[in-house]
Amino acid sequence: MEDHWNDVYSSKPQETLGWYQEDPQPDLAMILSLQMPKSSRIVIAGCGTTTIIEHLIQEGYTNLVLVDLSEVALQILAKRFSNYNFEYIAADLGSNEVYHKIYGMAIELWYDRATLHFLTGDEQIANYRKNIGLLEPNYVMLAQFSTEGATRCSGLDIRQYDRTSLRKILNHNYTEVESREHIYVNPSGGDRPYIYGVYNRVFEE
Ligand SMILES: C[S@@+](CC[C@H](N)C(=O)[O-])C[C@H]1O[C@@H](n2cnc3c(N)ncnc32)[C@H](O)[C@@H]1O
Repeated sequence: MEDHWNDVYSSKPQETLGWYQEDPQPDLAMILSLQMPKSSRIVIAGCGTTTIIEHLIQEGYTNLVLVDLSEVALQILAKRFSNYNFEYIAADLGSNEVYHKIYGMAIELWYDRATLHFLTGDEQIANYRKNIGLLEPNYVMLAQFSTEGATRCSGLDIRQYDRTSLRKILNHNYTEVESREHIYVNPSGGDRPYIYGVYNRVFEE
């Protein structure tokens, strides 16, 4: 699967990718509404070459952990952000690699747009859930293809989500802060309905 994503990032200009956001909304506004301290560590899970990084920097968030299966995507980012001291983690979010590679970091936000939905196997999803459960980010924001829309992306099958199934990615230590639907229009003009969920960790007494 790494090969597929490495080919994508090696062969296509970022502006033509079916998930490219020139203005990364509503993601950015939803993140800013959490009013997290500027020193917060943000994990971008399945970062690709996302433009939200420039916007987060502009807002003062520079403690970023950029995780992706594709080494090529991470290399593009490392070049683009050579002035910043980001963590680059090549790992499969559907395995326990991620947990092992970033364990011990206090994470304020785990943000995943359009990566979880590529995990179609039950074991992969269980591992993804386990990673979040063990890493215990304070907030989790997930934005994935909804049951209203496409069943494939980048030539691959995806798993669709609705509000309930997205909520179930988090264990009972998380409470839903916000859920919303959003129709993203891709560079070819196609509608891609997404479901967004934001969750907050509840601390037990
Ligand atoms: C549709 S792109 C979204 C990229 C970015 N989140 C955005 O919104 O622009 C999906 C990304 O997930 C990465 N990816 C796919 N499967 C993955 C996995 N199992 N573990 C980590 N990253 C994965 C791909 O390399 C790709 O960069």
